[in-house]
Amino acid sequence: MLPALVFLALTAFAAALLWSSHAGRAAALHLILAVGAMPLIFGAMSHFIPVLTRTRSAPSALAILPVLALAGGALVVAAFGFPGMLWGQPAGALLAVTAAGALFVWSRRRRAGMLGRPHPCLDWYEAALACLAAALLAILASVIWPQQAPALRRLHLHLNTLGFVGLTAMATLAVLLPTVTGRPDPQVGPRLRRDLPWAVAGTLLVAFGAAWYGPLAWIGGALWAIPPMRLGTRWLRLHRAEIVALHGAAPLLTAALAGLLGSAMLGAVNAIPAAATFHSVQPAWAFVAGFILPLVSGAASQLLPVWLRPGVQFGWHARLRNDLGRYGGARAVLFVIAGSAAGTGREWGLLLGAVTLILFLLQASIALVQALIIQSRSPS
Ligand code: HEM
Repeated sequence: MLPALVFLALTAFAAALLWSSHAGRAAALHLILAVGAMPLIFGAMSHFIPVLTRTRSAPSALAILPVLALAGGALVVAAFGFPGMLWGQPAGALLAVTAAGALFVWSRRRRAGMLGRPHPCLDWYEAALACLAAALLAILASVIWPQQAPALRRLHLHLNTLGFVGLTAMATLAVLLPTVTGRPDPQVGPRLRRDLPWAVAGTLLVAFGAAWYGPLAWIGGALWAIPPMRLGTRWLRLHRAEIVALHGAAPLLTAALAGLLGSAMLGAVNAIPAAATFHSVQPAWAFVAGFILPLVSGAASQLLPVWLRPGVQFGWHARLRNDLGRYGGARAVLFVIAGSAAGTGREWGLLLGAVTLILFLLQASIALVQALIIQSRSPS
C-alpha cells in the first residue's frame, strides 16, 4: 500500500505542477496537498505509529483511512475544477475529517495499550492530526458561516501547512536523518519533547492571528520557527559530511527543512500589506517546490526499500537505497533553486521542480525494476 501511495503522490505532484498554469491555483494546490500528500501522510503514520508505541503492526483494514482521505482530496479537486460540483468541498472535507479522526482515535488506543511511554514523535503526529481535523472543520464551518469564509480559509491554510504537514514533517525529519546517516542522536527524543509546545503554540497563533488578529501571527511565526532552526543547527554540527554530498537522502531532507522554513518566512513577508500588493511572493508554491518535493523524494529514497520488503534488512535494501539516493545532492540543489524561484513568482521554478521530480520518478522506476528482478532470482 505505502509504495503505491508514494508513486501516486509523486505522480500527482508532477501532474499538478505541469498543469498549474491551466488549472486554477486552488485545484493544482489541492491535487498536490490533498490528493498527493494527505493520503501518503496517513499511510506513513499508520506504518510509524506501531513502531513508536512498540505494538504490533497496523491491521490491514486500516488501509481504508488513506483511501478515504484520497477520496476526500479527489472530491475537493473535482469541486475546484467543475463549478457544478461545489458540494464536493464540504463532502471532501467530511470524508477527510472522518479519516483524520479515526486515525487519531486509533493512535490514542495504541498509546493506551502499550507498556511504558511512547516515543515523543507520536505527540507530534497526534498534534498534526488535530490541526488537520480543525482545518477541515473550518471549511465546513464556512458553509454555515459564509461571512467568515475569508478568515476561515486563512485558518484552514495555516493549520494545514504549518500544522498538519509542518508538524508531521519536522518530527519525521528529526527521527529520519540520523537513520539515514547511520549515526543515532540520543538528543532526538528529549528535543522533540521540548520543542512541541513551541511548534503547536506557534501554529495556533499564526492560524488564529492570520484569520482574525494579525499581530498574533507575528509572535506565532517567531515561536514556530524555533524548532526547525534548532534542528537545522544540530544537523549541521552532527551530519555535515552527509548533508553536503552528491548522493544520498540527507541533502534532500536538509533541503526540505530549509524549504519549510523558507516558505514560512515568505508567508510572513506576504503578510506585510506593502509586500502583498506585489503578486510575486508565492509562499504556497515555495512550500510545494522547495519543501514537499525534496521531502517526499528524500524520504522515499530512504524508506521505499523497507516498505517494499519489511523485516530483516540486507544487501538488497542497501543496494536499492543507494540507487534511489544517487544524485540526491544534485536534486536537492535543483529543488532549492526551484522553490526559491517559484516562491518569488517565477513560473519556471515550478517547471524546474516538475522536471527534477520526473527525473527522480524515472530513476526510481528503473531502480525498482532492477531490485524486483534481483528479488525474483533470490526470493529469500
Ligand atoms: C480534503 C479536504 C479539503 C477541503 C474541502 C479544502 C478546501 C479548501 C478551500 C475551499 C480553500 C479556499 C480556496 C480558495 O480560496 O479559492 C482551500 C484553500 C487552501 N487549502 Fe484546502 N481543502 C482541503 C484539504 C487541504 C489539505 C489537506 C491541505 C494541505 C495539506 C490544504 C491546503 C490549502 C491551502 C494551502 C489553501 C490556500 C490556497 C491558495 O492560497 O490559493 N487543503 N482549501
